[in-house]
Amino acid sequence: MSHSDVKTPMRSGSCGPLTGRADVPGDKSISHRALIFGAMAVGHTKITGLLEGQDVLDTAKAMRSFGADVTRDADGVWHVHGVGVGGFAEPDHVIDCGNSGTGVRLIMGAMATSPISATFTGDASLNKRPMARVTDPLALFGAQAVGRSGGRLPMTIVGAADPVPVTYTVPVPSAQVKSAVLLAALNAPGQTTVIEREATRDHTERMLAGFGADIRVEETDAGRVITLTGQPELTPQTITVPRDPSSAAFPVCAALITPGSDVLVPTIGLNPTRAGLFTTLQEMGADLTFENLREEGGEPVADLRARYSPNMHGVTVPPERAASMIDEYPILSVVAANATGTTQMHGVAELRVKESDRIAAMADGLRACGVTVDDGPDWWSVTGLGAGNVPGGATCASHLDHRIAMSFLILGMAAQNAVSVDDGEPIATSFPIFETLMNGLGAGIERI
Ligand code: S3P
Repeated sequence: MSHSDVKTPMRSGSCGPLTGRADVPGDKSISHRALIFGAMAVGHTKITGLLEGQDVLDTAKAMRSFGADVTRDADGVWHVHGVGVGGFAEPDHVIDCGNSGTGVRLIMGAMATSPISATFTGDASLNKRPMARVTDPLALFGAQAVGRSGGRLPMTIVGAADPVPVTYTVPVPSAQVKSAVLLAALNAPGQTTVIEREATRDHTERMLAGFGADIRVEETDAGRVITLTGQPELTPQTITVPRDPSSAAFPVCAALITPGSDVLVPTIGLNPTRAGLFTTLQEMGADLTFENLREEGGEPVADLRARYSPNMHGVTVPPERAASMIDEYPILSVVAANATGTTQMHGVAELRVKESDRIAAMADGLRACGVTVDDGPDWWSVTGLGAGNVPGGATCASHLDHRIAMSFLILGMAAQNAVSVDDGEPIATSFPIFETLMNGLGAGIERI
């Protein structure tokens, strides 16, 4: 059943201190990539800690449709028997990527340089999102795309039978676009060069190197220049997926705004291309400590401890930090509402084309809860009321967006009146254990 078929209204009200250990699930970005690269290697890739959220399960299903053997052991270990670069079979049915922009865009890239066709669709949220940002560069390799007006799904990609390598400067800061181009480049002969003016999450580059591809990354005045040699034989890997910092953000921020809280989030990924939220929170005066900094599976990780921080203040978040916290602005705005002064967030136009228009979705709900929000095309600001002073009391629309639903439920924990969301169903795309985990720490999230 798709997420749009069922609605689960949820409510969250003030609660006692949040305490204990929050074992958040595996990283969504890395989980998608582990399955896709596993499918493009010859032989057996073993994955532990895979996020079993709906987005990633949809990618696993898609990899089976392209011919890879993907299985799960009873203990949660996943196995991918890949078909090799250029080995994808043509799927015999439509590929449904559900809610996942990362899933559909990366898979389009992975199949675009093979002589096969595939038709992609998704839920009501995904079918509104722009795909030209991916199909434009894929056309340079020789792939063709036919979709709905505005470059939207459902869409068929006809892969290039004789792909050529490309040089491409990514026009928007997007790791999905960068990754789609790099995945397409795998089956093109010769060297493909991707240039990104602003660094975005680099899990694809790290994983390509891990699978044995010839990839070079140079920091230049024009930005990050990534050069990949096509048609390698990828070597299967054993991958341990770190816990998702974007999911950790929810219990961490909940602890910061809920009186008396002290929460430990072990082994979270702290890749610098993902850690912008934590820098921002520390600038606001959050009590965060990073313990046992170490490296696991090619990614930096640490145990993060968050304690109630009643004296946080507003800050200006610079545009150059946006890519490293792009998924965290909704929950940051909840913290900002509980800080004193105004938090300004600049260079965030990409927030308007996520699972929802995240600026509009958060602004509407925060205003309904008594918080002043201003916004423009690529910026927004939240005027904080100070710790515990948000009136709350509204029902907020989640717009098929997991991070919007979770953010408002966290807002309710520190608000004067409970906050409801019209639909908590999308939470299962990235954080299926959110409700159990948060209530285990002491929250009072309930279904209504
Ligand atoms: C992702 C990249 C980001 C992010 C998304 C995951 C990825 O999207 O918002 O949740 O795994 O590459 P964009 O590439 O559109 O910025």
